[in-house]
Amino acid sequence: MSARVLNGKELATKIKGELKQTVEEIKKKGIYPGLAVVIVGNDPASRVYVNSKKKACEEIGIESFEYALDENVSEEDLIKLIKKLNNDDRVNGILVQLPLPKHINEEKIILAIDSSKDVDGFHPENVGRLMTGNPQFLPCTPAGVMELIKESGIEIAGKECVIVGRSNIVGKPQSMLLLAEHGTVTICHSRTKNLEEVVKRADILVVAVGKPEMIKGNSIKPGAVVIDVGINRLEDKKIVGDVEYESCSKVASAITPVPGGVGPMTIAMLMKNTVKAAIAQAE
Ligand code: GUN
Repeated sequence: MSARVLNGKELATKIKGELKQTVEEIKKKGIYPGLAVVIVGNDPASRVYVNSKKKACEEIGIESFEYALDENVSEEDLIKLIKKLNNDDRVNGILVQLPLPKHINEEKIILAIDSSKDVDGFHPENVGRLMTGNPQFLPCTPAGVMELIKESGIEIAGKECVIVGRSNIVGKPQSMLLLAEHGTVTICHSRTKNLEEVVKRADILVVAVGKPEMIKGNSIKPGAVVIDVGINRLEDKKIVGDVEYESCSKVASAITPVPGGVGPMTIAMLMKNTVKAAIAQAE
């Protein structure tokens, strides 16, 4: 048996096409969505992500404003920039690409972003709203995962959902979204005992740990839905996920490829949040 491929690239293209139409419509009413993208330092992976986000803005008709800051910028100056963007009417969404250099406190930076412009959904107000079931902006990667699962007609209610990884960006918010759809959710991490046993129970498995090809075919339940959030560049430049695609695709019922799975969906969800922010701010 070969698993169904959950094609994120295709779905993201469809969503971006719909957003493009929405943007054309709202521009007629004088709403011009804008996204500020802030990048600090020269991390090559962050540069690739930021360029993809800017390109998506262009495709859809969202204006993007890039702020590329020196690696050594002070926390104070970064906060000053964010405050300026909070008060800039052309900017509906603010994204500060993570990770930030070690001398900058990420939590302070996220707190400085106006929660109504927090299109990443990282501000504590938005995290809290997600947790209490009244979200304003869904975090982009977990939201993209949900869209992929739902679009494929996969039922979540009552299923054993196992997430490997407990980050604020993916693991934790992913658990809330699966729970909201009535999944039975377990989060695993580096201290989890019997990780293999828990992973093997999963009807829906989401892996977001940043360890190349950590999950093998013989670790998963036959027929599982496998969502691979990892993007790892090997020494030979090949990009692989946290899941060994070759072996897992023979055991799973559905699987996301890397690249072309969750990655493009993250960007589509960012665009969706930015359009939503622009509409909300015009009201
Ligand atoms: N770094 C890795 N993923 C993300 C993301 O979704 N948003 C931001 N701002 N930084 C990231």
